[in-house]
Amino acid sequence: MAIIYLEEKRLFAISGDAVSYLFGFDERGLLKHLHWGRRVDSPGDFGAGFTGEGTANDPAVDILTEEYAPWGGMRFKEPCLKVSFADGTRDLVPVYREHRIRGDLLSVTFTDAHYPLELILFYRMMDGFDILERYAEIVNRGKEPFTIHRAASAEFHFPGTGWHQTNVYGQWAAEQRRFREPLGYGRKVLESRKGSTGHNHGPWFILDRNAGEEEGTVYFGALVYSGNFKTVFEVSPYGNTRVITGINDFDFAWVLRPGESFRTPAVLCGCTGGGFGAMSRGMHRIALKRLMPEEHRGEIRPVLYNSWEATYFDVTCQGQLALAETAAAMGVELFVVDDGWFGERHSDHAGLGDWYVNRTKFPSGLAPLVDGVKKLGMQFGIWVEPEMVNPDSDLYREHPEWIYRFEHREPTTGRNQLVLNLCEPAVAHYIVGVLSSLLSEHDIAFVKWDMNRAVSEPGALNLPPEDRQSVWYRHVLAFYGIVDELRRKFPRVVFEACASGGGRVDHGCLMRFDQFWTSDNTDALDRLEIQEGYSLMFPAKAMRAWVTDCPNFLNKRTIPLRYRFHSAMMGSLGIGGDLKKWSPQEREESAKMVAMYKEIRHVVQEGELYRLSTIGSGLAALQYVLSGESVVFALTRGERYGRELIPLRLRGLDRGKTYTVDIDGFAYDKSGGYLMESGITLHLPGDYASIMVRITEK
Ligand code: DGJ
Repeated sequence: MAIIYLEEKRLFAISGDAVSYLFGFDERGLLKHLHWGRRVDSPGDFGAGFTGEGTANDPAVDILTEEYAPWGGMRFKEPCLKVSFADGTRDLVPVYREHRIRGDLLSVTFTDAHYPLELILFYRMMDGFDILERYAEIVNRGKEPFTIHRAASAEFHFPGTGWHQTNVYGQWAAEQRRFREPLGYGRKVLESRKGSTGHNHGPWFILDRNAGEEEGTVYFGALVYSGNFKTVFEVSPYGNTRVITGINDFDFAWVLRPGESFRTPAVLCGCTGGGFGAMSRGMHRIALKRLMPEEHRGEIRPVLYNSWEATYFDVTCQGQLALAETAAAMGVELFVVDDGWFGERHSDHAGLGDWYVNRTKFPSGLAPLVDGVKKLGMQFGIWVEPEMVNPDSDLYREHPEWIYRFEHREPTTGRNQLVLNLCEPAVAHYIVGVLSSLLSEHDIAFVKWDMNRAVSEPGALNLPPEDRQSVWYRHVLAFYGIVDELRRKFPRVVFEACASGGGRVDHGCLMRFDQFWTSDNTDALDRLEIQEGYSLMFPAKAMRAWVTDCPNFLNKRTIPLRYRFHSAMMGSLGIGGDLKKWSPQEREESAKMVAMYKEIRHVVQEGELYRLSTIGSGLAALQYVLSGESVVFALTRGERYGRELIPLRLRGLDRGKTYTVDIDGFAYDKSGGYLMESGITLHLPGDYASIMVRITEK
């Protein structure tokens, strides 16, 4: 890692092992992006050069590859920063003041030509990962407040046109579906306005021209943020491509008072010549080694049981203990009681906010269940949805003023619930207090933190009217603050992020939660597509996947148990079915699959992922490789045209080494070179056929 400043060229070069990022000042003092890509060993060859003024219709500032474009002067492109000052001026002229290099962090500071606004751009190349972290900070050094209307985290430039962007699209129970499309002239926006990241798109970008799974140049960046985001792709009429990403400026305003500063969320960005696969492996690596919460990052995730699909709200101590007994016999290591254990929670109409044990369901409190689960050799986990309240709850009756709402309007309920105003310190205090009691009074090893509706009518009536459009960001910061505080107080507890399934899958949560509940869709086939989209940016260790009942609750599809297991074994395995209804044969088969998973889970959870084939082609084939060991899962939807023999070329092995390939008990030895050039042949006849192959270095 190196940060270099070339004084004579007024140029910055930030380099990792294989990549460099360069920018410098032009003759007018405008900061111009120069290079992002392969490592540059002679940065002095670059220079910001001469920009000139352009013309009245095509001003140079609009064409220039600016590092962080302010809104001001003759700029008509999408800006990164837009403010209005107390005297009504809405124009920025950032002038370079200084830069500092402190260890691996570069900061470049600008001050407005007249107003006491300071803008600081931060850059850090993350050692050993070739991932660049970027964010910005705005400081009010004056005596009057000013308002920030837009503050993106970063701007990126890509030479020319002809780029494609890849992201995911979806909705509840259908998240993370990968798509790739060409970027044409004009602006394209991917965003959330729902208060959370949402189920619709990911807060990250991927750009390529003609990359494939394992070849070609891919650029990418992930916003470390869990709220309203906005990514703008702009192909300018001048033939250049830009990406700007950050907090969504929709309904956003932040009043920055004297002495205050505003820091944007960070973006983690990188580029690779190894296609989408190398991109994902790079992002998985940094997640596993640096980003995920440190306390549990290195731990193998236990096999989990979750009660939701078995009992929904019909939770009783006896019923849960019965499930726990069966789960333990199958080899489950962590038993989680989902919704329905608290307050008057007999349906989704009541109880949210009342985080005390329902005494009808648990006459002697939670202790008999927790103790029972522990006696069975499992850890105990519990579900909560702390940001929400049902109007039919003690909390709401006591504090109807604790929700987001606008004056003279009835707040809209979603899933019969309202959103608590986390910008009110008393609310945050209540949540920390009530969850702290729960976690200190019981031996709880795991918390599933849910969020089942979007934020709407975001009126935080406790804030002065001029501050109320800051709610979107304040809510996320308060949510982070509460989780951080609980993690600090209860470091042993593992936290799972859930928002009606995968409604808050982002790097903000990845850095605070140990895993995601990926989707409420537990159909093993649909999951293959959902899991593939998820895997673009996020690691298998953080992806919970359950085996549930058939016919599936969502689409009534029936899929063999073995296939359901294979689908879920590609992440952190869980079971979520109504075990009372499972036959002795099914339980026995499940116990065998769980035992098998325990043998290979370190490879899945900590290995390098190769997407050999995607379910879109009819075959999902994923390979995980971890120092001398490899596992391949192959699942089809159904055999077609009598093609039941499927050749599969492997990846990530050592050509010169010999491996034992074990396909369902049939074992043979081959060299890594052979397995990667010629491959293995799988026999997958009929519908919903699946197989797990183990490859072990001799
Ligand atoms: C939505 C989650 O995604 C489900 O797994 C379950 O926890 C329910 N909420 C409970 O209400």
